[in-house]
Amino acid sequence: MVNKPYGRKLINRVLPEKAKNKILKDIAELPKISIDRTAALDAEKIAVGAFSPLEGFLGSEEYNSVLFKETLLNGLPWTIPIIFAPNPQEKSTIDKLKSGSEIALFYQEKPIGMLHLEEKYRFSKKELAKQVFGTTDIAHPDVKKIENMGDVILSGKIDLLERLSPKDEFTPKETRAEFEKRQWETIVVFQTRNPPHVAHEYIQRCALELVDGLFIHPVVGELKPDDFPPEAVVESYRYLIDNYYPASRVFLSPFSIAMRYAGPKAAVFLAIVRKNYGCTHFIVGRDMAGVGSYYDPYEAQALLRKLDIGIEPMAFRESYYCSRCQSVASEKTCAHKPENHVKISGTQLRKLIAAKTRPPAEIMRPEIADLLSKYSANLQKAT
Ligand code: ADX
Repeated sequence: MVNKPYGRKLINRVLPEKAKNKILKDIAELPKISIDRTAALDAEKIAVGAFSPLEGFLGSEEYNSVLFKETLLNGLPWTIPIIFAPNPQEKSTIDKLKSGSEIALFYQEKPIGMLHLEEKYRFSKKELAKQVFGTTDIAHPDVKKIENMGDVILSGKIDLLERLSPKDEFTPKETRAEFEKRQWETIVVFQTRNPPHVAHEYIQRCALELVDGLFIHPVVGELKPDDFPPEAVVESYRYLIDNYYPASRVFLSPFSIAMRYAGPKAAVFLAIVRKNYGCTHFIVGRDMAGVGSYYDPYEAQALLRKLDIGIEPMAFRESYYCSRCQSVASEKTCAHKPENHVKISGTQLRKLIAAKTRPPAEIMRPEIADLLSKYSANLQKAT
């Protein structure tokens, strides 16, 4: 059996065709607010049930509960507040809105959804940064994003008019059906934002030895500018799967949300979401969802164990290439001294590929390195 949704019920707030057309017909009469990419992708994920049990953007009481107690109002653990603070340019429209207003949400000039306004409230950007990301340092990519947010949050249930994600992206309902069709009962998910290096492959294979299926679910919606472009991640995974993994046991879908670089709190959120996709196990390695040195590399594993969310963490220590073992290993499986180890990290690979240097085969498959070389210009621009 695939895993139960978080809170037991998979939310669906995608409007059926008839209701959608009715709203679109009269949309010009509704107040219109532009929505940024992060919130638009969040709205879509709420609607397709990926963020179940959420049905909309958080109200102030629930927002504070998530920030200070790491729970929703129903007591379920939740670590990343899902909120919508429109651009300050919308101020004159926002000022006129009242609880109960029906608002048309526009993304890139197209109506994508409706917000049934429950509350508008102010919030402290410093508090949000500190509580969720553990820092107010503007060098942190999410703290910088918070700085650019509006000052007022709009909360309430949403109804989706238009999907934003790529056509090949599976919804939770679709992954559940796919896993059932494949008769997988235990499904481990691999959260990533990078093309596969050999440590990724090693922990994926270790995990897959123990379960029925591996679901590779790379975040592609919005990454920081010096990450690999999403196409590079998806293309390199397709290559790995087509050439090395048994097709019947591995499944890939892109996952378009904005990446949250919140270390442990992001790891818990990303695991909760994957429970909604039907996964039973969650791979968590070294410094998941980390950036710079803001988080302890094993804090994510500790928080996942502490907040028992109903998806089994599969925790891995740092993997490296050991020249004595002549394989990838970790301190749990290898007896040799650090001077025999070649460290493997996404940051280091990004730097090598940006500098048009081919990474050694010990850390990345040469075919994947070659495939990524065409993206070096994108990386150079950003770094
Ligand atoms: S993440 O931001 O999605 O965590 P990344 O793609 O770097 O980004 O990592 C995907 C997964 O692989 C995470 O579980 C991470 O902890 C793990 N990981 C990455 N590199 C290593 C490594 N060298 N050893 C062990 N785990 C690793």
